[in-house]
Amino acid sequence: VDKGLKDYYKSYFKMGVAVRPQDLSGETAAFILKQYNSITAENAMKMGPIHPEENRYFWRDADSIVNFGQRHGIGVRGHNLCWHEQTPAWMFKDADGKQVSKEVLLQRLKDHIFAVAGRYKGKIYAWDVVNEVIDDDSTKFLRNSLWYQICGEDFIVKAFEYARQADPNAKLFYNDYNTERPDKMEKLYRLMKKLVDAKVPIDGVGLQAHWSIYEPSEAELRNTIEKMASLGLEVHITELDMSVYPWEKERRQKRAGESDILTADLEQKQIEQYSKVFKVFRDHKKVVTSVTFWNISDRYTWLDTYPVPGRKNYPLLFDANLQPKKAYWEVVNFK
Ligand code: XIL
Repeated sequence: VDKGLKDYYKSYFKMGVAVRPQDLSGETAAFILKQYNSITAENAMKMGPIHPEENRYFWRDADSIVNFGQRHGIGVRGHNLCWHEQTPAWMFKDADGKQVSKEVLLQRLKDHIFAVAGRYKGKIYAWDVVNEVIDDDSTKFLRNSLWYQICGEDFIVKAFEYARQADPNAKLFYNDYNTERPDKMEKLYRLMKKLVDAKVPIDGVGLQAHWSIYEPSEAELRNTIEKMASLGLEVHITELDMSVYPWEKERRQKRAGESDILTADLEQKQIEQYSKVFKVFRDHKKVVTSVTFWNISDRYTWLDTYPVPGRKNYPLLFDANLQPKKAYWEVVNFK
């Protein structure tokens, strides 16, 4: 009776969760170990937090997360090595405040990846090497970030090459969101095919899975997973949550009628959506090898402040008292 998600899904895939250092003691630590067999740092390994100045790394938080995984014999997923957000401003500037050249920026990227992936070498089973470089605008392909402006597409290839050199045993992933929307899926396929054809060292695709009770559809999700599998790539579900509100990045205010309460109607939709996506994951168990939730329970979720501040969300399988919601029982009671 004392089973957790990881036990129900033992013959399918790893079950993981994004954590903060303060989650790793007391009640939450015990809860994590009961439910999950993989952890990801919610923020601690990102470039800004871990590499605040050119010649200074801040290891404490990331170390505590990796040590927790090692101590308890559970997997650690690395997130992430190159992103346009939470990247320190110094990365793109020289001592006079001028923008650096491509050569300098790639050298800095290399130093960073060697330092971080090198430090945890052998202790991370998969790294999100490059995060979110595809543009959301359907008329554009890659995001016009500072990485792209300075290096063109080369930083993507280089990041994978550096990561492979720094930790040859970690599986290397490209990670992105809204990957089931047809436009973005096409671009994801195009980028992945390009990397695979060019023999770039990449092992898989991370589908962030910041989903909602309204999307993706079952067909969109199946199609995305199968398209990635057709390229020989593994799929990790890296940041799963199921917002009870529509996913709109642009929105900065609550909508009229949004209640802040998990109504019976919203909960029912969420149960159905969770049940549907886990069925799809199980149907693709040769391809989907790890599923990570983005936060532990509805007590704390990044969606309480994003994209709309001050609006409570209920996107996870456990309520604010760490008790399983109805959706949990739907997810674990399968045949
Ligand atoms: C989020 C964290 O959950 C927040 O605490 C932080 O303020 C912003 O980043 N895509 C990603 C994750 O790849 O790193 C993001 O995590 C959520 C969206």
